[in-house]
Amino acid sequence: MVNIIIDGRKIKAKEGSTILENAEELKIEIPTLCHHKELSPFGACRLCTVEVKTNGKWKMTTSCDTAVDQGMEIRTDSDKVRESRRLSAQLLYYKYPTTAVVRDMAWKLGVEVSEDAKAEGHDCILCGLCVRACREIVDTGALTFRDRGLGRDIDEPRIEFDPKLCIGCGSCAYVCPTGYVKMEAVEDKRIIWDKVFKMAACKVCGKYFAPQDQLEYISKKTGVPLSKLYTCVNCR
Ligand code: SF4
Ligand code: FES
Repeated sequence: MVNIIIDGRKIKAKEGSTILENAEELKIEIPTLCHHKELSPFGACRLCTVEVKTNGKWKMTTSCDTAVDQGMEIRTDSDKVRESRRLSAQLLYYKYPTTAVVRDMAWKLGVEVSEDAKAEGHDCILCGLCVRACREIVDTGALTFRDRGLGRDIDEPRIEFDPKLCIGCGSCAYVCPTGYVKMEAVEDKRIIWDKVFKMAACKVCGKYFAPQDQLEYISKKTGVPLSKLYTCVNCR
């Protein structure tokens, strides 16, 4: 354990834990857009910025990917922190003015948002949640960032989808904060990233419950015979 101070409160924090995790424990609200507690940090949106005192000097850092350190002092609600978050939110809002989650966040953080514009957009804000969920939870790697590195056009949504690797589980659609990833159910089909998946029916209730490809993937990974997987959660 290490001793830290957040907003004047002295606490003991787990070594290796992040500032954000400790703030959440204390019920201190820090805005986030690219963070998910089950996924590795990415540091893309910078909305979670806080101030940290290092060698006697205060500096700004993102709280979702900064681990606490012995004696660390943190401010989560100073004027500088509020201004930094407002600027990050403003940048996002300029890029994606009609995307509801961005507009709402911008408004909450003090950005002037237009009353007339409708929040009908579903832009990809490059938060990377879908890519991380696909890689870290599902472990298929069907989604990647294209053209990473020098020369990448950072304004273009560049999520690359590999239909050969996708099993249609829909994790990316569940974690996407903007609705950019669409998942449709049409009769016995699921459509995601324009790929059509055949759904398997529960052998007890007859309802379609999972893509056939996903069941085959689980069977291969776990060694459970495929025939034992045709029961939905409700009928198990
Ligand atoms: S598609 Fe959605 S989850 Fe993926 S990077 Fe874009 S906004 Fe984030
Ligand atoms: S939540 Fe920390 S940078 Fe996005």
